[in-house]
Amino acid sequence: MTPLLSLLLLLGSASAGTVFSALSVNGVDQGHAVGVRVPTSNVAIKDLSSPNLVCNTNFIQPVSQAVINVPAGAQVTAQFHRTAAGYLGPDPADPIDPTNKGPVIAYLAAVPSATQANVTGLNWFKIWESGLNPTTHQWGSDLLFINKGNATFTIPDCLASGDYLLRVEYIGLEFATEYPGAQFFMSCAQLSITGPDAGLVKPATVTFPGAYHSSDPGIVTSIFGITSYTVPGPAVFAC
Ligand SMILES: *[C@@H]1O[C@H](CO)[C@@H](O)[C@H](O)[C@H]1NC(C)=O
Ligand SMILES: *[C@@H]1O[C@H](CO)[C@@H](O)[C@H](O)[C@H]1NC(C)=O
Repeated sequence: MTPLLSLLLLLGSASAGTVFSALSVNGVDQGHAVGVRVPTSNVAIKDLSSPNLVCNTNFIQPVSQAVINVPAGAQVTAQFHRTAAGYLGPDPADPIDPTNKGPVIAYLAAVPSATQANVTGLNWFKIWESGLNPTTHQWGSDLLFINKGNATFTIPDCLASGDYLLRVEYIGLEFATEYPGAQFFMSCAQLSITGPDAGLVKPATVTFPGAYHSSDPGIVTSIFGITSYTVPGPAVFAC
């Protein structure tokens, strides 16, 4: 490969971000940007201390006031596409450039109101992660690509009823051999979860910013020649 071609490929992958812009609940698509705070830009956040690391910034206006009803235990699908516009047709870099590698992670935080703008100081718990499968050598990003941008996981069935924000994140690791380098892409969806009457389980929580550190092994890493990968953040909550 010529040095120029290598450089062009590098620049190409550097600019290929992704945006979580729609949610399905038990297979029912809620619609593009409905109940999801969709950032207009697919540019990565790299600063782990940024307040934008919570739910992103510069949203499509007006921000949806819809709150998506989700029964606890439901299967939900966060739909990622290359840009904020959603799926625009066949694109070899949708939902991400397939040479980009990294985990896909989902968190929930209980909130007084799912439409509240203020996301400072929320208490998040991780409900799902898709890192590097040591057997298949597939990353969460590979599965996202294979599934045409769909990240599907289950809402825990033991949660208390109430409003929640759902934060789904892809971390691109192609430039993560030093900090800052890892590229964070996320949106938050506005949920009303209906739990079981006895839903009184209190998951342990973390904050954003704060859950990730520049010294975490899953934040500073090579994607080449590794057989295991530690997804950053806390353990996945189990009922
Ligand atoms: C947002 O919420 C935090 C935590 O409750 C609070 O400290 C802060 O004052 C709020 N910010 C605004 C602008 O309301
Ligand atoms: C992704 O999810 C959407 C919405 O639920 C669905 O219409 C589509 O068929 C799914 N695509 C794949 C490849 O699973």
